[in-house]
Amino acid sequence: MSDIDLGKEEEREVLKVLRSGWLSSGPVTERFEQAFSKYMGGGDAVAVSNGTAALHLALACLDLKEGDEVILPSLTFVATANAVLYTGATPVFADINGRDDLNISPDEIEKNITERTKAIVVMHYGGFPCKMESILAIARKHNLYVIEDAAHAPGAVYRGKKCGTIGDLGCFSFFSNKNIVTGEGGLVFTRDRALAERIRTMRSHGMKTLSWDKYRGRVSSYDIERLGYNYRTTEIQSALGLIQLKKLDRNNRRRKKLVNAYRKELRGIEGVSLPFSRSGGSPSYHIFPILLAPAIDRNKAVERLKDSGIQSSVHYPPVHLFSFYRNNFGFQEGMLPKTEEMSRRELTLPLHPLMDVEDVKWIANQIKKILKSTDT
Ligand SMILES: Cc1ncc(COP(=O)(O)O)c(C=O)c1O
Repeated sequence: MSDIDLGKEEEREVLKVLRSGWLSSGPVTERFEQAFSKYMGGGDAVAVSNGTAALHLALACLDLKEGDEVILPSLTFVATANAVLYTGATPVFADINGRDDLNISPDEIEKNITERTKAIVVMHYGGFPCKMESILAIARKHNLYVIEDAAHAPGAVYRGKKCGTIGDLGCFSFFSNKNIVTGEGGLVFTRDRALAERIRTMRSHGMKTLSWDKYRGRVSSYDIERLGYNYRTTEIQSALGLIQLKKLDRNNRRRKKLVNAYRKELRGIEGVSLPFSRSGGSPSYHIFPILLAPAIDRNKAVERLKDSGIQSSVHYPPVHLFSFYRNNFGFQEGMLPKTEEMSRRELTLPLHPLMDVEDVKWIANQIKKILKSTDT
């Protein structure tokens, strides 16, 4: 499904860190944050231990409390919703646009707004930007914060703006299958200085001073002004991040070439439709989703692909239908018809920057064969 583009540069930079004698957040992390901020066109970049921590901090810095509501998609990784629960707020799931656009629908967001709504979390599915102009207009009208879960979307651009810089806060993940890979890792981006300051302190127990400053003997005491966590990253992860960031645009272009090849090979095949065909902007092509016709047995197709040596996956089982969410919040099937239908039909095919067009052609051919056979 995915593979990592790691090479000599990463090896060299990680070795430098190991030899430096300081492994937790420090000068390399500061350099990574500065480079990330520059790449985004300026703003505060706060590196953290993973994307889930980034989402938690982005929500927690808004001082959400029990009874507050946050609107978000259900067609996302469970971390998007779990992060809402960590703050004590209630997740309110909104449906997606439809079969060509698997992102959260602005109309569905608006329908779900109540006097308790405090924030909207959007997720740029597969690195295809959400309809941010409409979403921001709704947020302004109702005085709501907008958080972008940009785990799939580093480098994606919507109407001239990088995903993750459009809302109030943008959250990134650098998990091993992402477009920037540091093993585990994440980052919160914001252009709001006050929120950035809060996130920096909350990342490290609520302390204003860094362990790095203490190590250098700059400070010997500290105060705690608000509840914090230990969501610090390490210098090793940041060293990887610096090199991976340099490779991001090139690797996103590789992903685009592969997606174009997939689209050419799979166009017109009976039983397969390709979402995001009308997507505007410049996506980051994190994953390649296809939709199978309702009559096709997806489990059988997955098995047949596996027999040919092709891994596949599903993005995503809807969060509201996980037993934890059903049992604790009373969510039920039928609540989000478009999300549920697309989740039943979606299949994600392999996509990563180490593949080439020949790989895509071979995979597409196997799919054609599998779909022609009668038992799928
Ligand atoms: C959409 C989405 N949100 C959040 C996360 C959480 O990121 P992490 O795994 O770095 O905690 C991920 C990835 O794993 C993701 O795909």
